[in-house]
Amino acid sequence: MMKLTPPMGWNSWNTFGSEINEQLIFDTADKMVSEGLLEKGYEYLVIDDCWSLRERDENEKLVPDPAKFPHGMKAVADYVHSKGLKLGMYSCAGNMTCAGYPGSFEHEFIDAQTFAEWGVDFLKYDYCYHSPIIAGTYLYRRMGLALENCGRDILFSACSWGADETHEWIKASAASMWRSTGDIFDTWDSVKNLVKQQERLHPYNGVGCFNDMDMLIVGMHGKGNVGLQGCTDVQYKTHFSIWAFMGSPLMIGCDIRNMTEETKKILTNEELIRINQDPGCRQPVRLAGTWAGEDLLLYAKNLVGGDIALGFFNLSGEKAMARLNLDEVGLPFSTGKTLKLKELWTGEETPVRNANIMKWLEPYDCAVYRAKVVDL
Ligand code: GLA
Repeated sequence: MMKLTPPMGWNSWNTFGSEINEQLIFDTADKMVSEGLLEKGYEYLVIDDCWSLRERDENEKLVPDPAKFPHGMKAVADYVHSKGLKLGMYSCAGNMTCAGYPGSFEHEFIDAQTFAEWGVDFLKYDYCYHSPIIAGTYLYRRMGLALENCGRDILFSACSWGADETHEWIKASAASMWRSTGDIFDTWDSVKNLVKQQERLHPYNGVGCFNDMDMLIVGMHGKGNVGLQGCTDVQYKTHFSIWAFMGSPLMIGCDIRNMTEETKKILTNEELIRINQDPGCRQPVRLAGTWAGEDLLLYAKNLVGGDIALGFFNLSGEKAMARLNLDEVGLPFSTGKTLKLKELWTGEETPVRNANIMKWLEPYDCAVYRAKVVDL
């Protein structure tokens, strides 16, 4: 399956881990619609690890745990589809999944067939317990091939955490997204760490195969499976802004049955989503800026139609000044052009009259602009 912009949806792992069941999925599906998330583009509802029994059946097929999914997965898919959503499921390239359930190694074709029969639209494919002698490139190409031959359009979401130089071989597998980082946890250090891991990988992101920086922790506030000390709303806002700006898939990880207004506001920022879904899916470029240190990131991304997105991200706990000379985005004084800025969280518009942009940022805060090229 070919996906032209970063996939968006919800995934069970961050909050629920192994505590998943049919009712949770039905309620989440309801909320994805009633909270307006589907309307904003969040269309995949993904059931992560821990959904099956520990053993395959006598025909070698995977079996949904009847205590968690008493009506089977076809019923779950039917419900999810009836809401206008798509269903995602999870397996692994190894003998076992990361949580110890059966993996798809040497069962790739039968599993792809099973997922197709159930009506699955998305498969997240992990990398735990894989053979030490068969390289990842074979394992992912094998499942990619199985999915392309299963008779159903199933989006392939590779999850090998960037290991074994995944970026060098993953596109060959027909994956539409690939985990370019390790696992996220609900702490600011984790967010920062993943952002830094991403830096050298921007050139590999683009239409058809997106760098997946892992599921969002927005709104978790320390609760759930990967919830540790939690983050502040300002930190969640910056985390979301970076994921959107970098062109990562946007997979919500909090309990959307109980979102605060602030969480909802962050997850549904239309202008940020528009930048994420820009049809060019162009590479974000790190700008040098003036006095920008390691924890003050300045990024630009050229959008289809000629606008430029600018992202100033303060990862530090200190107030910081973002200072940018427009030479860096291709607009030296000699062009007779400048930028008219609109900040996408506050809506504030600032015409830039000279060749510099300056913006004070509070600790952990960010400013993201959509900028128009105008005459000086
Ligand atoms: C790995 C993945 C996570 C999640 C768990 C499930 O750690 O990276 O995203 O799927 O496995 O066990």
